[in-house]
Amino acid sequence: MRLVKLLANLGYGSRKEMQQAIRHGWVTDRDGNQLKADAKTDHEDILFDDEPLDPAHGVVILMNKPLGYVCSTKDQGRLVYDLLPDRFRMRKPVLSTIGRLDKETSGALLFTDDGTFLHQVISPKSNVPKVYEVTLDRPMNGSEAALFTSGEMMLENEQKPLKPAELDVINETHARLTLHEGRYHQVRRMFAATGNHVTDLARSRVGALTLEGVDEGQWKVLTEEDKALIFS
Ligand code: URA
Repeated sequence: MRLVKLLANLGYGSRKEMQQAIRHGWVTDRDGNQLKADAKTDHEDILFDDEPLDPAHGVVILMNKPLGYVCSTKDQGRLVYDLLPDRFRMRKPVLSTIGRLDKETSGALLFTDDGTFLHQVISPKSNVPKVYEVTLDRPMNGSEAALFTSGEMMLENEQKPLKPAELDVINETHARLTLHEGRYHQVRRMFAATGNHVTDLARSRVGALTLEGVDEGQWKVLTEEDKALIFS
């Protein structure tokens, strides 16, 4: 891909601005040689303003989403995209979240610009488990685990029962819930159906991928090994 288009697609600026950046010598290789618009330099060897380029198309990002941030590009208030460099919003193809977390849910949130990868993660065939740490308003009544794992639980206004979900009770008001699908407000609605109320919710895992090393509000680009953990 031509350098101007590559930089514009990564969100560094318009094509016109990228032509100017190249003309000004802001785009170089690792040895400091200024690159021309028709340069065939490998992505990882290109620097923009002395900094390595953002990851190429096919990137997957893991964010440790804080409470209070919305998974949207254009809602009011604080958005998960505010925690990424501004130019990431201008990337083509767009960087989308893989599924969503509610504004008042924290934890593991994935982004990608690779539609095939996104579908692989959310596809029922992949059956990727998502693990949630749940804090409840009231002690559990003891019937939750059997109900959640039954494969027969119906949520209000839904036509299909929920897939079996595993509940590990930590203490009366704390549990770890593993889901194999992602319906709207699913965890909150499951506990609401048992007469309880979720007061704190955090996603700790997607597949075997954890938030280890990613502090709240921080993010990292996943390696191939990290990506494989999602499906293992
Ligand atoms: N279930 C919920 O209720 N909220 C989330 O954000 C994710 C799962």
